[in-house]
Amino acid sequence: MKISVIGCGYLGAVHAASMAKLGHDVVAVDVDPVKIERLAAGDAPFFEPGLPEILAEAIASGRIRFTTDMAEVAGARVHFVAVGTPQGPTGAADLTYVDAAVAGLVPYLSDGEFVVGKSTVPVGTAARLAASVSESVPGATLVWNPEFLREGFAVQDTISPDRLVYGVPSGAAGDAAVAALDEVYATTLADGTPRLVVDLATAELVKVSANAFLATKISFINAMAEIAEVVGADVTALADAIGHDERIGRKFLNAGLGFGGGCLPKDIRAFQARATELGVGESLDFLADVDAINLRRRAHVVTLAQDLLDGAVAGKRVGVLGLAFKPNSDDVRDSPALDIAARLVELGATVSAYDPQANGTAARIRPELTYVDSADAAVRDADLVLVLTEWNEFRTLDPARVAGLVARPVVVDGRNCLDRDAWTAAGFTVRGMGR
Ligand code: UDX
Repeated sequence: MKISVIGCGYLGAVHAASMAKLGHDVVAVDVDPVKIERLAAGDAPFFEPGLPEILAEAIASGRIRFTTDMAEVAGARVHFVAVGTPQGPTGAADLTYVDAAVAGLVPYLSDGEFVVGKSTVPVGTAARLAASVSESVPGATLVWNPEFLREGFAVQDTISPDRLVYGVPSGAAGDAAVAALDEVYATTLADGTPRLVVDLATAELVKVSANAFLATKISFINAMAEIAEVVGADVTALADAIGHDERIGRKFLNAGLGFGGGCLPKDIRAFQARATELGVGESLDFLADVDAINLRRRAHVVTLAQDLLDGAVAGKRVGVLGLAFKPNSDDVRDSPALDIAARLVELGATVSAYDPQANGTAARIRPELTYVDSADAAVRDADLVLVLTEWNEFRTLDPARVAGLVARPVVVDGRNCLDRDAWTAAGFTVRGMGR
């Protein structure tokens, strides 16, 4: 099928390459010429495992092309809208890019074509955009097909998702949209992926409520970490024990620095803002606590670092391992790790930071940190080591060797990812989260 993808960020670039991988003929559009040039040359503009391979395959097969010219989407049967919905100044989602993408697409849209929203939007957006699309091109239909991909697993999550959700209008237009999307995802559906057909508002809510639930789960365990820290209990053992209850489950119960990234933080804020607009703000009041618990983790680590440096941070050397909001990503948007590192610089520490992929992205927004190109260089002569992103490279560090590099053997394990016994045996004072 001829498909267009509008927006080539973390979501759109992966979606476009994955659609080509599924055998479709894809035209991918972005307003950023540099990004388009890099993608056209097979150079992924961000780190995402598996993306370079499927991108190269798609380019070699001739099934994908990248352009800044919206006119090239003409003739595609399905047009995916995959642009960003960043947090606006009030916490509500900024819909500028979604509105511009749809408005830019409409002049090239024909009867029988489908506009398929993938971006995370406040509930009600799809109905509004659907009305404007059918006003301009009565034979075209707008539907919503939210994306649930996790960074680091984005290719796998796009090609073999947990579920497909189609938000469609009722009637013949909706039926035709379901048939078109079934054709797009034929391979995925043949693998047995569950597919749910719902109305537009439900599809929008599925996405934001899934993220709200995941954020709540993480903040729940981090609240338990706060309690555990006071009473000397171990939150990891607690998570293991409650996780055996199938109704609870062990996933997303890792206490630590909490959630960051381009999705969970902004999505829970946008959801609260939208609920307030709809007059049901009270229903999501708990998300303010979820957000507050999450942000307290960062403050807690900064305080812990101050204590471990005997209250005198200025002039001390801090080695920071990890800057990305999670491993296998170079994304530092709302990253707890980068936030903590920057706060320590503000307090006068000399921070040497290393991330296997995110040094470049971090340096662009936090030039005040000193970036080094290895874990060894980051910890050398450090008065304190902070492990802030649980990359495998850090989990498998040899603590005895690290002990030989640092000035003082003190480590904060912000993600509870180190072998405590091994680090203690190597002479380190180890401070975990909620243990
Ligand atoms: C998330 C959702 O998982 C995905 O379905 C949605 O489409 C986009 O948002 P992503 O932002 O890529 O995906 O990351 P995710 O793996 O969900 O992790 C989010 C944050 O929570 C990370 O900062 C991670 O470190 C943190 N986290 C996750 C925890 O602190 N503890 C956990 O147990 C799990």
